Amino acid sequence: MPPKDIIIDTDPGQDDAAAILLALGSPDEINLLGITAVAGNVPLALTQKNARIVCELAGKTNVPVFAGCDAPLVRKLVTAEHVHGKTGLDGPALPDPDMSLQDQHGVDFIIETLRARPVETVTLCPLGPLTNIATALQRAPDIAERIQEIVLMGGAYFEVGNITPAAEFNIYVDPEAADIVFKSGVKITVLPLDVTHKVLVTPERINALRAQATPVCDAMADMVDFFERFDTGKYGSDGAPLHDPCVTAYLIKPELFSGRFINVEIETLSELTLGMTVADWWGVTDRAPNAKFMGDVDVQGFFNLLTERLARL
Ligand code: BDR
Ligand code: CA
Repeated sequence: MPPKDIIIDTDPGQDDAAAILLALGSPDEINLLGITAVAGNVPLALTQKNARIVCELAGKTNVPVFAGCDAPLVRKLVTAEHVHGKTGLDGPALPDPDMSLQDQHGVDFIIETLRARPVETVTLCPLGPLTNIATALQRAPDIAERIQEIVLMGGAYFEVGNITPAAEFNIYVDPEAADIVFKSGVKITVLPLDVTHKVLVTPERINALRAQATPVCDAMADMVDFFERFDTGKYGSDGAPLHDPCVTAYLIKPELFSGRFINVEIETLSELTLGMTVADWWGVTDRAPNAKFMGDVDVQGFFNLLTERLARL
């Protein structure tokens, strides 16, 4: 099988960095056409810079990085420095990037790429709020039938929420964008908190990364060490969840994950449950299924893959 052509849409974020590095370390399975940054964990000025820092860390300065939307469609941006630190990539001391940001807007890059390539050959991988993807779909509705699949990290059913009691961060930050994406008719696969909260970076798993003794694995271990402080305090577990690399791991080894094809709707009206992913896991409505919603993961298989691929960089 030839590698899958993908665009990563992201708000790095240490776990976004892990997702990008996993993609870059897997050229047999993934051909990364470009990275589009979005405002999320930290403002856009930092997420686009962080995306370039991560590419340089991996020695992949040929990956084009674009800045996309700097605010949600209709709401004020909510950020997560309390988790990711002031820069979004706190932990390791990484140099400012030399590689330049592309002039083109990220949304235009997504639209142009989908129009220029054969139908259903490009997979979009959103790891942050869905603002760029929804804007592209709004501005160019013809691209919906050209997208092969959207594989995204976001939402929750059994785990409910992490930024509010009812909502996961990526969906909560731009619920109107998520609503557009989930109603788009595009094939969607969701890696929700129900999966990512099982992917815990325990001390043994950090040690396995450090044992590779490479600059990339060391930097990743330092990033994880940083956000562990927040997450282990919050969840009382012996490791923090590593959310976003579940998306790229799914592209490389889908057999690590299992889920159900169900209806998922986004709450955009209620103040109390804004951004909730109302997932019909038990099939109690007659609403048509619109997304493959993952529920389980082979956790050790995931970490073996991550460690092995990061060690290649
Ligand atoms: C998601 O929110 C962000 O903080 C992480 O990068 C991840 O994409 C988890 O809820
Ligand atoms: Ca993210």
